[in-house]
Amino acid sequence: MRVLSSFLLIILSIINSMGSSDLDSKKPLVIAHRGASGELPEHTTAAYELAINQGADFIECDICLTKDLVPFCSHDCSLNSSTDISTRKDLKDRITKHDMDFDEPEFSMSEDYFSIDFTWDELKMVKVKQSRLDRDQSHNFKYSLCSLEEFLNVAKNSKKPTGVYPELKYPVWQKQQLKTQFKEKNTTYEQLIVDILYTNGFDSKSKRVFIQTFDKEAAKNLHKITDMPIIYLAWRNFDSSTVREAAEFAQGVGLWKNLIFHWGGYKNGTIKSTGLVKEAHDLKLKVHVYTFRVESKHVPFLFGNDIRREYDAYLNEKIDGFFTDYPYSLSSHLNYRYGEQCPKSEKSANFARRHMATYIIYAITAFVSLIINKY
Ligand SMILES: *[C@@H]1O[C@H](CO)[C@@H](O)[C@H](O)[C@H]1NC(C)=O
Ligand SMILES: *[C@@H]1O[C@H](CO)[C@@H](O)[C@H](O)[C@H]1NC(C)=O
Ligand SMILES: *[C@@H]1O[C@H](CO)[C@@H](O)[C@H](O)[C@H]1NC(C)=O
Repeated sequence: MRVLSSFLLIILSIINSMGSSDLDSKKPLVIAHRGASGELPEHTTAAYELAINQGADFIECDICLTKDLVPFCSHDCSLNSSTDISTRKDLKDRITKHDMDFDEPEFSMSEDYFSIDFTWDELKMVKVKQSRLDRDQSHNFKYSLCSLEEFLNVAKNSKKPTGVYPELKYPVWQKQQLKTQFKEKNTTYEQLIVDILYTNGFDSKSKRVFIQTFDKEAAKNLHKITDMPIIYLAWRNFDSSTVREAAEFAQGVGLWKNLIFHWGGYKNGTIKSTGLVKEAHDLKLKVHVYTFRVESKHVPFLFGNDIRREYDAYLNEKIDGFFTDYPYSLSSHLNYRYGEQCPKSEKSANFARRHMATYIIYAITAFVSLIINKY
């Protein structure tokens, strides 16, 4: 009897140790928003390389253009708040006024240095700083702006397969401002970016590219000229009808995180789903959600200032990817949840594989002694 029970125990422990992960869906993507931008100045090759080392599946680049049509990575096409450009006496006369976002009442005419007024040769001399004052300022002015080509090279040269996630920023404004240059080159904003991606091997077959934009016209233009997956972004005013519309020209939606739950105010609320993720999934759209940041001011109170609980709420909604400024925090949490590189996983798949031979010997011994015992 004692032998039988030890035999059963061993069998049970084998089954248990092989246990499946506790989430049934595929592990969502870690999308490094502007690189590991929580730690290093955003949109720099250093921030992208760090993101990849921290487990990012995709690195993200917001595209602005220079007046000679060189695409580079920058959240804004106005450069004062993210660079040292204002210290350059020789560039003082380039300060001008623009309204980059025609449709957004939040944006208005502002005075700044705008990328469309500079050549890439001028801009590549500019150094980048951490634009958020509550983040590490010690890396300011160490790194240069990063061109789209340099950004793609970071992904191409990485040891593990890494995808790229470029965004067409301010398409209406950039197209209007640079229309002479586009005409001269016989191209469009959309075509220019698609061509560079193709040239660098990032086509739909590579499975290592998503191309994103908030602009419906730009998304529709992309849909006409490429089969790369298009992610249509939404901030506010996004509902069931917009999901259905997006399904006509996009492969996924990139949603503001506050669209996923009914929030009673940003810091407050309940974790009551709006159902948008399911609606999008029913139409075969991927759902990537932005932007996850570990600073407590970005984590709603109902998660107890704990980003891991915020991640979990979105995992339960089965989103397909997270945009985060802190890829390490997200990738380590996903590894924990999906049973890799963590104490739990020691007991599961990897452990079982390593100790399978021992288990088998145990089992045979137990079985043999069981037989011997019986007869
Ligand atoms: C640029 O930023 C600096 C502070 O870093 C500020 O003093 C200056 O007024 C800004 N210039 C413009 C044109 O906004
Ligand atoms: C401009 O581009 C279009 C489409 O890419 C092409 O059909 C046309 O021949 C080009 N024109 C010139 C002058 O290169
Ligand atoms: C939280 O949201 C609920 C529902 O919208 C509201 O009634 C309540 O006053 C809010 N509480 C705080 C502290 O903002």
